Amino acid sequence: MILVTGATGNVGRHVLDLLVEDGRAVRVLTRRPQNAVWPAEVDVVAGDLADAASLGTALAGADTVFLFAVPGSGPGFVAAARQAGVRRVVLLSSGAVSDDDEVQDGPIASYHAEIEQALRASGLEWTFLRPDVFAANTLMWAGQTKSGDVVRGAYAEAAAAPVHEADIAAVAAAALTQDGHAGRVYELTGPESLTHAEQARILGEVLGRPIRFAELPAETVRQAMSAHVPAPILDGIFKVWSESVGRAAPTTTDVEKVTGRPARSYREWVLDRATAF
Ligand SMILES: NC(=O)c1ccc[n+]([C@@H]2O[C@H](COP(=O)([O-])OP(=O)(O)OC[C@H]3O[C@@H](n4cnc5c(N)ncnc54)[C@H](OP(=O)(O)O)[C@@H]3O)[C@@H](O)[C@H]2O)c1
Repeated sequence: MILVTGATGNVGRHVLDLLVEDGRAVRVLTRRPQNAVWPAEVDVVAGDLADAASLGTALAGADTVFLFAVPGSGPGFVAAARQAGVRRVVLLSSGAVSDDDEVQDGPIASYHAEIEQALRASGLEWTFLRPDVFAANTLMWAGQTKSGDVVRGAYAEAAAAPVHEADIAAVAAAALTQDGHAGRVYELTGPESLTHAEQARILGEVLGRPIRFAELPAETVRQAMSAHVPAPILDGIFKVWSESVGRAAPTTTDVEKVTGRPARSYREWVLDRATAF
């Protein structure tokens, strides 16, 4: 039995679909089972990764877990997973984590690194997925593209190698179901470095109308985002954006190495999600 956490999220919903398509016995853990429609063959259990005492039913009989990283949840999850007899864990970590730094740079890297550390010390088989920026982050532009052809945001020239959530999920599904991934850290990127302005241009090309990225002062955008993003996470996002101006984002071939097919481009991602815009 494979337990999928984060199954209502960008990545986890693809992980769930791939495992179901593959005929695997799957259970999901969610805080609100009633808020989603689930495939008939999936066992759905309520639980909260922030409360290890709530995980017993979800973990009972699970030998493999796709783990969403909830800040501070590492030690509690590891204790519950060991007690339940879990053997293998694939963690959705973050490309912000660095193995070179003794102290992680910022809160996003820190909390993912803490969960990685708990798993490294657990005696469980672990695989860490460290994605770069998700292509799905540009869904935050959808409200603007529905009402016009200009996307306003911070740092037009900030570059990333946006990764398709389906590619992260494909790597996860391989690591969950195949041997040979234990102790591996996969750095997952899209195939090319693109600035915000270039992503907006590609979005427009796929939608068939010219879409332009208009740069706003960082502080203005930060204020707007602060309504729904916690301050330490905002700090991390703005630090990454400001530091990636004028710098090509590195790309890796880990998606292809694990799945046998090259990482999908940002253009392919827009084609898959065009109706959202
Ligand atoms: N966005 C990026 O550019 C980026 C880049 C690198 C890494 N990441 C990492 O990727 C993750 C985001 O993945 P995503 O976009 O697929 O997720 P998402 O769409 O933000 O969805 C969050 C998922 O996590 C589950 N969840 C949240 N808190 C939970 C809790 N306390 N207990 C149980 N489940 C909980 C939610 O489940 P329910 O609501 O159903 O309970 C939901 O399925 C984060 O860890 C992020 O740091 C993101």
